[in-house]
Amino acid sequence: MALAHSKSHFHSLQYLSIITIIILILFIQTSIATSPLYHICSNSQNFTTNSPYERNLNNLLGDLYLKTPPTGFGLSSTAQSYADRAYGMSLCRGDISKSNCTACVVEASSEILKRCPNNRGAIIWYDNCLLKYSDIDFFGEIDTRNRFYMWNLQNVSTNGTHDQAFNQRTRELLSNLSNEACGSTKMFANGEVELISSMKIYGMVQSSRDLSSVDCKRCIDDAISELPVCCEGRQGGRVVGGSCNIRYEIYPFLNL
Ligand SMILES: *[C@@H]1O[C@H](CO)[C@@H](O)[C@H](O)[C@H]1NC(C)=O
Ligand SMILES: *[C@@H]1O[C@H](CO)[C@@H](O)[C@H](O)[C@H]1NC(C)=O
Ligand SMILES: *[C@@H]1O[C@H](CO)[C@@H](O)[C@H](O)[C@H]1NC(C)=O
Ligand SMILES: *[C@@H]1O[C@H](CO)[C@@H](O)[C@H](O)[C@H]1NC(C)=O
Ligand SMILES: *[C@@H]1O[C@H](CO)[C@@H](O)[C@H](O)[C@H]1NC(C)=O
Repeated sequence: MALAHSKSHFHSLQYLSIITIIILILFIQTSIATSPLYHICSNSQNFTTNSPYERNLNNLLGDLYLKTPPTGFGLSSTAQSYADRAYGMSLCRGDISKSNCTACVVEASSEILKRCPNNRGAIIWYDNCLLKYSDIDFFGEIDTRNRFYMWNLQNVSTNGTHDQAFNQRTRELLSNLSNEACGSTKMFANGEVELISSMKIYGMVQSSRDLSSVDCKRCIDDAISELPVCCEGRQGGRVVGGSCNIRYEIYPFLNL
């Protein structure tokens, strides 16, 4: 009896822990899929609850939700009066499907309001999209204020000559992609190049489509010139800004 009891107790514990592990895995996967890369609450001014700015911002986010998925890019501004105008932009990564773009914009809208409550300007980045709003008109201007870097902790090799070639080929690939992206309406390009010993470098560049072709190129080339700050010799790196971003890895990372 005691044995049976402890046995069944053991079984139910084991059963419980398997469920717990499955729930944990699901939780971790969901949080990885949806957690932002970074955010910046960019304005020192706050708005108050139920203010005209709050209503405009909510309308703006609703508008971006409708506008963005069909093309992967949305610009919107809403106002009741000039002083309360809100300007917003959202941009999905060039390879992202409409449904994943929608999901990302929805997630970004709700998350940015939580992370920057009542802030009149903010930006949030995900793997799949970025969302930005402000009470200042930023359309058509290169965002030089909001920027961050990410890199792979692994280095390419400890062999100096190999590193040089790797860095040079990476820059060359991204510069070529910059030309391609900024000459196209989507302002997105991806590609790959084979390095020695069958190692490939995969790259991607993207600019927001409110920039002119010249500013697209200026923004992306500037990001490429930042690679020594974060990423030289690393197996992967990203320079991510409010107007454009670049990324390279030694594995394919797009949903193509
Ligand atoms: C805005 O709100 C944040 C947090 O709610 C607070 O830390 C900050 O001081 C406020 N800024 C101004 C200018 O009131
Ligand atoms: C949406 O994103 C998920 C996770 O990145 C991916 O597995 C899936 O293929 C994407 N769906 C479409 C339709 O692209
Ligand atoms: C990679 O290189 C950097 C800079 O040379 C060094 O600080 C770091 O420890 C290296 N990382 C690994 C994993 O070897
Ligand atoms: C570094 O790598 C290059 C190319 O693979 C090779 O020719 C060279 O001998 C290596 N140098 C050292 C010090 O390992
Ligand atoms: C970059 O473009 C030039 C000219 O089209 C080409 O010769 C070169 O192989 C390209 N480099 C890379 C890394 O894609």
